[in-house]
Amino acid sequence: MSVRRLHPEQPKSFAFTPENEAWAVGVIAKYPAGKQASAVIPLLMRAQEQHANWLPEPAIRLVADKLGMAYIRVYEVATFYTQFQLAPVGKKAHVQVCGTTPCMLRGAEGLKDVCRRRIHADQFHLSADGNFSWEEVECAGTCANAPMAQIFADTYEDLTPALLEKVLDGYAAGAPPKPGSQIGRTASSPVGGMSSLTDPALYDGSTVGAWEKRLAEADVKAAAAAAAAPPVKPA
Ligand code: FES
Repeated sequence: MSVRRLHPEQPKSFAFTPENEAWAVGVIAKYPAGKQASAVIPLLMRAQEQHANWLPEPAIRLVADKLGMAYIRVYEVATFYTQFQLAPVGKKAHVQVCGTTPCMLRGAEGLKDVCRRRIHADQFHLSADGNFSWEEVECAGTCANAPMAQIFADTYEDLTPALLEKVLDGYAAGAPPKPGSQIGRTASSPVGGMSSLTDPALYDGSTVGAWEKRLAEADVKAAAAAAAAPPVKPA
């Protein structure tokens, strides 16, 4: 896990745009009196989106003031969750490579090597053109399709170094590829297609009631076997 600190260079102030201000008022109103702190994550997310996808320190204070929270409480939230960026990120993509055990065992190190070579040798630094940045994060919840990387709100799964290169090419060209598995599987279905429950009859309705028929047949067979059995002699 990376050390997460506020960037040393901060803007002097932060204010929501009028649209985001109206949106924030609506979000806060969804919570009962005294529970406004529950709006902290959506408000921080909106502030981040407004501010070139990273969260400056004045925005943390603004959100705290709006929700009646101590600054330290909102700071704790912002520094805990890796969805919040505390330093400027790439204009086109900020690549979050999962380095937790399932992804690590499935090749995350190779993905980090791609980031080191294409973006910057160290995480949390912008590429020379300012378009990309990267960091290692903990599990992003798509372990069944490890290894993976998240770029803003999308996840790219079943990656290899070559496939991550293609994803980055797409972002560089302004045409990001479709998120999800990059080897074409649906969700976390087995690689190579289904290996069980493959009989089409299971899905055409023809087997409805089949188990009842089989049980009835088994009962008939058992009754016939009992009738045909020789009587038991007394000992
Ligand atoms: S371990 Fe990488 S997504 Fe869960």
